[in-house]
Amino acid sequence: MFKSIEWADDRVRILDQSRLPHDLTYIECTDYRMVADAIRTLKIRGAPAIGIAAAMGVALHAQHVKAASFEELLDALSPAIDEMISTRPTAVNIRWAMERLKTLLKKNRHHGVDALKRLIVEEARSILAEDIAVNRAIGKWGAEFIRDGATVLTHCNAGALATGGYGTATAAVLVAREQGKDVQVIADETRPVLQGARLTTWELMQAGVPVTLITDNSAGALMRKGVIDLCMVGTDRTVRNGDVANKIGTYSVAVLARENGVPFYVAAPFSSIDFSLASGDEIPIEERPADEVTHICGCRIAPEGVRVVNMAFDITPAKYVTAIITEKGAFRPEDLEKLADGGANLSELRLKS
Ligand code: MRU
Repeated sequence: MFKSIEWADDRVRILDQSRLPHDLTYIECTDYRMVADAIRTLKIRGAPAIGIAAAMGVALHAQHVKAASFEELLDALSPAIDEMISTRPTAVNIRWAMERLKTLLKKNRHHGVDALKRLIVEEARSILAEDIAVNRAIGKWGAEFIRDGATVLTHCNAGALATGGYGTATAAVLVAREQGKDVQVIADETRPVLQGARLTTWELMQAGVPVTLITDNSAGALMRKGVIDLCMVGTDRTVRNGDVANKIGTYSVAVLARENGVPFYVAAPFSSIDFSLASGDEIPIEERPADEVTHICGCRIAPEGVRVVNMAFDITPAKYVTAIITEKGAFRPEDLEKLADGGANLSELRLKS
């Protein structure tokens, strides 16, 4: 199987997702700017994966900077940290990973600079390893909501490619299948840049999961026919009241699911929950270049000069979400708030399938 990202020989090795499914090529990043560029241009994408990439990018920079003290090291890393945060604003994972590195440095400020540099690399690698473990746990909780024989609709790519491995939404399907359940997936193509068509189908086929590709505008008709048993998507940022930011089009899927009585689940590692925001209206929505809409795979499909709106994400209000599935269990979106300070009794709030 492939690895979306790894730290190898003091380089960051990134699977170039912009070339999938045609070419399986890797980019060897030797400088944090290369990592930032890979994030910006969607060579690596997906909220957890870009958080990992940003941490590794800063770790890479740490190896190259000259600093004589903790303060000088933090100063020297600041441009890389700021650059990472500026790449993609909607997913909270980059900011989360940057805060994690800064906290680590501050906690260990009494160590020498060389030790701090080593700690940053170890932390970036831990973020990757922990992500895989978290995804397996999400998969275990998520699989409880998938019965034998189920057909699962997913939107965008919340699979191994979007994470350190295993995926979030996809993890639930993989665990259900490991449990012997016969589960198949329907993948929305996900315009404009076709993460569903190019990435989700590719990785599920690699994993031996039966998958059917549909155009985005087919989802409602298939739900109405009773073909889809549940929807399972990922998230770039979920906030305190349970509102969910995810790939543009997710909101439409959720509304269609409600209209047709289909449960709508969101797989969300705790690192993608932003408890500092009260509602989805506060989440910054990334706007991307017009050519993603006017072109498909480099081929122009719209007239020159046409006006374009290209919001990369939308907000699904909590009322459309059946459950948020985390590594600690599945919860009603309205109960998220109670988990904010870590004080809640998880087993009382945990949803049963
Ligand atoms: O623009 P992208 O491809 O980075 O958008 C990704 C998504 O919307 C995913 O669904 C989300 O990041 C969750 S990935 C586990």
